[in-house]
Amino acid sequence: MASTLPGSHHSALIIAEKGAPHSLVSRVTPQPGPGQILIEVKAIALNPVDAFQRDHSALIATYPTVLGSDVAGIVAGVGPDILSSTFKLGSRVAAYASSYFHGSHADYGSFQQFTLVAAEKVTPLPDSLSFCEASILPMSVSVAMSAWWTIDMPRDTKYAPQDKRAMLVWGASTSVGSAAVQTAKSMGFHVYATCSPRHHEYIRGLGADRVFDYQSPNVVSAIVDSIKEDKLSLYQCFLGRGDLETITTILEQVRGDNVARIASAPIVPPDARQVDGVVVTFVQTPADPVEARGYFRWVFNEWLKEKLATGEYVPSPHLKIVGKGLEDVDRALDKLNQGVSGSKLVVEL
Ligand SMILES: NC(=O)c1ccc[n+]([C@@H]2O[C@H](COP(=O)([O-])OP(=O)(O)OC[C@H]3O[C@@H](n4cnc5c(N)ncnc54)[C@H](OP(=O)(O)O)[C@@H]3O)[C@@H](O)[C@H]2O)c1
Repeated sequence: MASTLPGSHHSALIIAEKGAPHSLVSRVTPQPGPGQILIEVKAIALNPVDAFQRDHSALIATYPTVLGSDVAGIVAGVGPDILSSTFKLGSRVAAYASSYFHGSHADYGSFQQFTLVAAEKVTPLPDSLSFCEASILPMSVSVAMSAWWTIDMPRDTKYAPQDKRAMLVWGASTSVGSAAVQTAKSMGFHVYATCSPRHHEYIRGLGADRVFDYQSPNVVSAIVDSIKEDKLSLYQCFLGRGDLETITTILEQVRGDNVARIASAPIVPPDARQVDGVVVTFVQTPADPVEARGYFRWVFNEWLKEKLATGEYVPSPHLKIVGKGLEDVDRALDKLNQGVSGSKLVVEL
């Protein structure tokens, strides 16, 4: 069922062929098939991978394609098997809307007015969140949750303060790191975080118990000493951005008899130092399609829906609206390439 008529058109930013720049075109609006939701896009959040794909023709299986990963908007259509009690026409949602999951097919992807998304990557929104705020959720939450899956942490992990378990989130002011702080806190970890001093108060507000300046020459001893002082057990880490060697050095000193696990959002450099008892793994979602569907369903249809409704999870880091309309997406991606600090860039449609 769709509120758009068959054969209607919408504006889309496509890449027509390998190496081509973005061009704004009109394309036929698809109708949702089984398990799918058609979303009228109201806000798009930008991620480094979007700029990387545009600039290097990377991770694109076919052309023409539509890039982009994070949207918030309105349900404009649902597949025949989607329960209207779950996703009503006209309801407000956020979605992990990447064509990467669909062989780069242009019906999917964020940089367009209407996009198709698999229902398990869609989360309903409370009225309290604007579309711009909500658009920054999907990729960051998915990466944080995938990190915990990557290091074999059960999804029902729930520590009590007396369990004395700590999690290190390095690069906590990154988009993905800020989500790691919030999700680790919700599992009951004592969260140790690093970022620039200007973000310390904000990251504490997201749930970090101790925050350190990653640029301090004493950062290693400060963290190691604090772990001892707090009598915590630390052998797991989420890496948003930063120096793998420094983290490895810390974990070597505090892991005790435990095998330390680092979930790295950035690709692990091939020349990274290999250390006995410290395992570094690149964050990915489950490869098996059935497992992946179940995983996304839990993250977006259940966990995030509930945590947004109760206010236990908030969009992070700071939202920065940098454009209005698809025409502004390229300029916004160029801005993202220049670097951001504790903020996520969003284009409103
Ligand atoms: N595996 C995946 O599926 C996946 C998905 C999404 C993203 N990623 C990758 O994850 C990384 C982070 O992406 P993002 O969008 O979250 O990043 P981002 O928000 O663009 O990162 C900006 C932040 O990086 C921090 N930073 C820069 N250098 C640092 C360092 N040496 N140590 C600690 N923090 C540092 C800055 O912190 P301060 O301002 O506090 O200095 C700044 O706030 C990227 O490499 C991205 O490609 C991977």
